[in-house]
Amino acid sequence: MKRYVILISGRGSNMESLLDAGLPGSCAAVISNKPDATGLAAAAGRGIATTVIDHRGFASREDFDAALATEIERHAPDLVLLAGFMRILGERFVRRFEGRLLNIHPSLLPAFPGVRTHAQALAAGVRLHGCSVHFVTPALDGGPIVAQAAVPVLAGDDEASLGRRVLAEEHLLYPRVAGWFLEGRLRLVDGRARLDGEAAVAGALHAPQAG
Ligand code: GRF
Repeated sequence: MKRYVILISGRGSNMESLLDAGLPGSCAAVISNKPDATGLAAAAGRGIATTVIDHRGFASREDFDAALATEIERHAPDLVLLAGFMRILGERFVRRFEGRLLNIHPSLLPAFPGVRTHAQALAAGVRLHGCSVHFVTPALDGGPIVAQAAVPVLAGDDEASLGRRVLAEEHLLYPRVAGWFLEGRLRLVDGRARLDGEAAVAGALHAPQAG
């Protein structure tokens, strides 16, 4: 059976959706860079091994990345899932796990990389917003996109209401993509995501409401 590791920094709701999805693989560990990440308790409550690699204990980003990589490799995972992991990973780390490192980002990339994506979307006035699952490359939030889900931006939305609508889609999209990978259907080939050998274009598009 394939093995995966999930990296978190906080609440861990995407982690929970992955753990509860009945993925065709086993979760070897949940690793957090923050000791107070509330998701750690949720993982432990499901019987998953948890580890903290506190980034504040390292003199440099490279040292943290190296310790994190060593901890991940201890579990020999086929797949590493970033789920609300809020540290930028260096090129060396990313290259080491290239092709088996996925992230979920709460925007329709390449729009709105970085943080406060729902505020960015509202400020820009877009009518469609959403989330993306992508392979991780050294470019921040810039790797090949596997799948996206879109939601309408509604009149009266604020950051919180829009964020909730996007998060509900994240919880559906990420397990779906992780499942493809664990089934051996999804691969990174020549810098492009391929599902069943085809350019991966998949994901739910929720049409905006009329009016
Ligand atoms: C999610 O919106 C995720 O896409 C982003 O950070 C948030 C983490 O939420 N990277 P959670 O920890 O999964 O609840």
